[in-house]
Amino acid sequence: GPVSELVIANSNASPDGFTRSSVAVLAGGTHPGPTIMAQKGDTFKINVTNQLSNESMLTSTSIHWHGLFQHHSNQMDGVAFVTQCPIAPGHTFLYEFSAGDQVGTYWYHSHYGAQYCDGLRGPLIIYDPHDPYRSLYDIDDESTIITLMDWYHLPSPQVQEPAAVNSVLINGVGRYDGGPDVPFAVINVQPRKRYRFRLLNMACKPNFIFSIDGHNLTIIEVDGQYVKPLVVDSIQIHASQRYSFILETNQPVDNYWVHAGPSEGTNATAILRYACSPNADPKNRTTLNSAALNETSLHPLYPPPSRLLQKPDVKLDVVIGFNLTRFIFSINNVQYTSPSIPVLLQILSGAMTAADFAPNGTVYTLPRNKVIEISVNANVLSGGPHPFHLHGHSFAVVRSAGSSGYNYVNPVMRDTVSTGNPGDYVTIRFITDNPGPWLLHCHIEWHLYTGLALVFAEAPEDVAASQPVNDAWKQLCPIYNSLPQQN
Ligand code: C2O
Repeated sequence: GPVSELVIANSNASPDGFTRSSVAVLAGGTHPGPTIMAQKGDTFKINVTNQLSNESMLTSTSIHWHGLFQHHSNQMDGVAFVTQCPIAPGHTFLYEFSAGDQVGTYWYHSHYGAQYCDGLRGPLIIYDPHDPYRSLYDIDDESTIITLMDWYHLPSPQVQEPAAVNSVLINGVGRYDGGPDVPFAVINVQPRKRYRFRLLNMACKPNFIFSIDGHNLTIIEVDGQYVKPLVVDSIQIHASQRYSFILETNQPVDNYWVHAGPSEGTNATAILRYACSPNADPKNRTTLNSAALNETSLHPLYPPPSRLLQKPDVKLDVVIGFNLTRFIFSINNVQYTSPSIPVLLQILSGAMTAADFAPNGTVYTLPRNKVIEISVNANVLSGGPHPFHLHGHSFAVVRSAGSSGYNYVNPVMRDTVSTGNPGDYVTIRFITDNPGPWLLHCHIEWHLYTGLALVFAEAPEDVAASQPVNDAWKQLCPIYNSLPQQN
């Protein structure tokens, strides 16, 4: 399996031509960080060395592998104060886990404060040697990755809500208003081929309307789940979501604009360049007008477990609250604040019912092996859209934002779903087959930071047996030895 070394260090960055005097958190000296590539079934061994020293940003760290379920390895989920203590400067921690049979498009990012907005993020791809689409679509090439990110000229601890995006980056480069003409990212293709492109929104805030002039996009994967092919001409992609689409290079040899229109900030562009076309900017073209992506048109390639489509065992409402004067969020009237003792450690020390956990009200317990239905409701005052991500699971979206009804037949499975306009709601279902504490949160990092999260303690009574923590993990938490041990 892939053995990777990620050295986290401070370094100057100028992806949009503005050099941040305060230093970015960078993985391996690049932004975004290097792509972690694996094959289906691999064991991951990723050694993270923390060399951070710049006090204007956080100097501790932790890394989350977004979308990987971490079956029997909750302690490797990388969420500071939920599944581990942060890695202190000067320390190293080995993340070791299996992704089981998961394949597709994922990413990794810091899960400590809003640190990923300072640069600690990168793609993580799991290839499948027996990918059904490779033969179905006769895919010639699946090496293209397109990352969309936002960038700030201030270090994350100094960004004030509402956070002002300075620039949008496509594959790590972009422009800001009044800034220099940084060269656009170029995506090189050969004519008359079929490509699998992977599109990732690794932003801290905006969603994007993504399109490529003159080309249809045939979506085949959503957040690591295969879907029935769906032809669209644009994709609205929310923070932390991923799509794979087939792009046929069936147009005249030329340059074509790639667009990422953010919900906030200036439109970003890149260039799709057919081999042998001039080294020049594309011409402007009228759009295709086939169809924008509608989430309700996405359907799984393989049917979801039939239990998910029957009656849920537990129903829970997640009501988003917002206090405009203090600019803080809450769920069911509780503002999430980071526990001082990681929730996993609290479980290993005997916490079993919601009332046992601190801080009070942010941890919900879920019984094992049940169908859970959650409706996330952003009332009119709490804004939106809010992209909600659940750790440890993918879920069926039985009601999409803006939808006229429920889909109990062939709902799309994914790991991040967005509420729609203020007042709208989404409903998701998942099966509690993965004991451990898992975060549910808005993936707009500034909202998570100000309280828009909760923790599910899933089957806490089964955690000690299924998730033995190792010595390195214990050493991250100096408090470990002074707590009562249940195992
Ligand atoms: Cu991308 Cu809490 O995760």
